[in-house]
Amino acid sequence: MKIAVIGTGYVGLVSGACFSEFGFDVTCVDKDAAKIETINGGLMPIYEPGLAELVARNVDAGRLHFKTDLGQAVTHADAVFIAVGTPTRRGDGHADLSFVYAAAEELAGHLSGYTVIVTKSTVPVGTGRNVANVVAKANPDADFDMISNPEFLREGAAISDFMRPDRVIVGAETDAARDVMRALYRPLFLIETPILFTNLETSELIKYASNAFLAVKVSYINQMADLCEVVGADVHDVAKGMGLDKRIGDKFLHPGPGYGGSCFPKDTLALVKTAEMHGSDVSIVDAVIKFNQDRKSRMSARVTEALGESVEGASIAILGLAFKPETDDMRDSPSLDIISSLSMAGAKLRVYDPKAMEEAKPLLPREVVFCESATDCLRGTRAAVLVTEWNEFRALTPAHFAAEMAGNVLVDLRNVYDPLVMQEAGFHYFSIGR
Ligand SMILES: NC(=O)c1ccc[n+]([C@@H]2O[C@H](COP(=O)([O-])OP(=O)(O)OC[C@H]3O[C@@H](n4cnc5c(N)ncnc54)[C@H](O)[C@@H]3O)[C@@H](O)[C@H]2O)c1
Repeated sequence: MKIAVIGTGYVGLVSGACFSEFGFDVTCVDKDAAKIETINGGLMPIYEPGLAELVARNVDAGRLHFKTDLGQAVTHADAVFIAVGTPTRRGDGHADLSFVYAAAEELAGHLSGYTVIVTKSTVPVGTGRNVANVVAKANPDADFDMISNPEFLREGAAISDFMRPDRVIVGAETDAARDVMRALYRPLFLIETPILFTNLETSELIKYASNAFLAVKVSYINQMADLCEVVGADVHDVAKGMGLDKRIGDKFLHPGPGYGGSCFPKDTLALVKTAEMHGSDVSIVDAVIKFNQDRKSRMSARVTEALGESVEGASIAILGLAFKPETDDMRDSPSLDIISSLSMAGAKLRVYDPKAMEEAKPLLPREVVFCESATDCLRGTRAAVLVTEWNEFRALTPAHFAAEMAGNVLVDLRNVYDPLVMQEAGFHYFSIGR
């Protein structure tokens, strides 16, 4: 079975590499020639643990190819995956589907023989059927079935998520289409991964409903953290006590500066827009979007409060830039809000992230100093703010902070340090919800 993957970003690259690891012949296509050149030169355009090795192994085995020529890849394919971006459309909050429809139009003329066209991109309900119409219009002779197969991988754990997912969702409406997807996911079927077959609309909605639910859960514990701070409770114990209830579960109950990343912000917004269009109420999600945005912009005030005076002229270390550890993805990262308001208030910012420095550079104010390491970042600062919980920051002890910093204010937006240890070491330590 031959596969073409259109779009070689996080999802396309990881999915393509993993399908080739399953033994299929995969061609990943991207219109970004520099990206394809980078990959063919043996380098990865993104940081994702284990990805470089996985790609190299399958390229060497002759099963994985990277091209800019969509036509060649699609003509030979039994399955064509669309994995292009679906960012927020400027101005109205809907998902921007222009990349999806452009890819559909472009691939249509190259289909030969029975092919399944699979949307792996996160797309609003109804998109699959629209893509099918675009393809049928562009190539009335095309013999194809449309499938929705949303991706649930998490950046930072993308390969294991793809290889051992909690479930695979397939929206397919013919036996032939379901057979192709069963064959593609056979290795996962063998390890008893639940594979749920639905219609197109249901599959598309499962993705949004899942992401929005997780965004609600994160925001819920963030609101509980705020409440803990004013009533004298400890959000860690609240989360633990809640999480022991099997109906709730302990995942996604970690308070922090607000969710970011390439998915939750845009997917919650797109879900609200879909519901609005159909006159349906998802006001819970709407409230979460507003709360989260407000939370992210309030985080810099915590730093000012911790310093006890204006941040103007204060040298502050920002530890972590990516929206979460083990990725270099900066999309909607809370660090962007924090850095931009502290910088506008006149703080002198020193920043460090183990992997996201290059991605961050074009997004941050020019005055920000990019440092070589965590210790370099802390050097001479009055306050340190932990924004992303990379393991190397978890490993920092009070002695590390004390050796480099000129001041003793520590704002821990991920609750990674022990308050007692930090306070006993003489730090003014501020965490979330305790
Ligand atoms: N990043 C994640 O963690 C994640 C997880 C699950 C689902 N998703 C969804 O998967 C989709 C892709 O996300 P991503 O993060 O991989 O995006 P991305 O922006 O990293 O990559 C998209 C790629 O598609 C390419 N592209 C666009 N139009 C093209 C065309 N016509 N032909 C060839 N290439 C084209 C772009 O050049 C880019 O390299 C989105 O819908 C996203 O919501 C993302």
